[in-house]
Amino acid sequence: MRKLIIAIDGPVGSGKSTVARRVAELLGYTHLDSGAMYRAVAWKALRAGVPLDSPVDLERLAGAVRIDLQPRGSKLHVLLDGEDITDQIRTTDVSRAASVVAAVAGVRRPLVEEQRRAGAQGGVVMEGRDIGTVVFPHADLKIYLDASPEVRAARRLKELEEKGEDSNLAKVLADVRERDRRDREREASPLVRAGDAVVVDNTAMDAEETARVIVLLAQERAKAASV
Ligand code: C5P
Repeated sequence: MRKLIIAIDGPVGSGKSTVARRVAELLGYTHLDSGAMYRAVAWKALRAGVPLDSPVDLERLAGAVRIDLQPRGSKLHVLLDGEDITDQIRTTDVSRAASVVAAVAGVRRPLVEEQRRAGAQGGVVMEGRDIGTVVFPHADLKIYLDASPEVRAARRLKELEEKGEDSNLAKVLADVRERDRRDREREASPLVRAGDAVVVDNTAMDAEETARVIVLLAQERAKAASV
């Protein structure tokens, strides 16, 4: 059967990463987390002291770094200029900074090019905010994953607690709403549902159920594309 390009977009806490990883595993595809690339640029900007309010400096930085996403076992490792920063990019500070750098068109350009190169052959599940609208507008299957803000914040809080970060639901919910607002209202590639995306609301579904729904849809599309 033909190997598809599957685009999964959605807001923070919609379960994109876990679901995309599982869909890729079930189909024998490659999982590509585009958000990790924006996080990597943000991490570098914070470390190098590049001001987050300087689009010119951020653009220069994004054009100068090399970001590699390497699947190892069930984990996707993120390398920036050869340095493994997989765990460092998951902090609250980097999350916040990522949504700021991602609003800069000049930062997005080189990253989108790299994402297109990485997915061109098909057999990929790529997740992000603009995969079905900008990166692969002709993706074989587009999913818009969503859940209520409260459920998304609770998932995010659980993740932070597992990493030993101190937080609370009210703080995380405020953060989720702020990142939603920045992602949806920015001029460059805002988070919007592609007109031809299938909306999957997983407020009341766990990641495994969500992944299986998407795999069924993918199998249907692959079959239709093969006849
Ligand atoms: O998906 P994740 O939360 O890891 O993404 C981090 C940030 O990167 C998001 O808040 C969003 O601003 C940005 N992003 C984006 N476009 C993508 C993926 C992520 O703007 N395709």
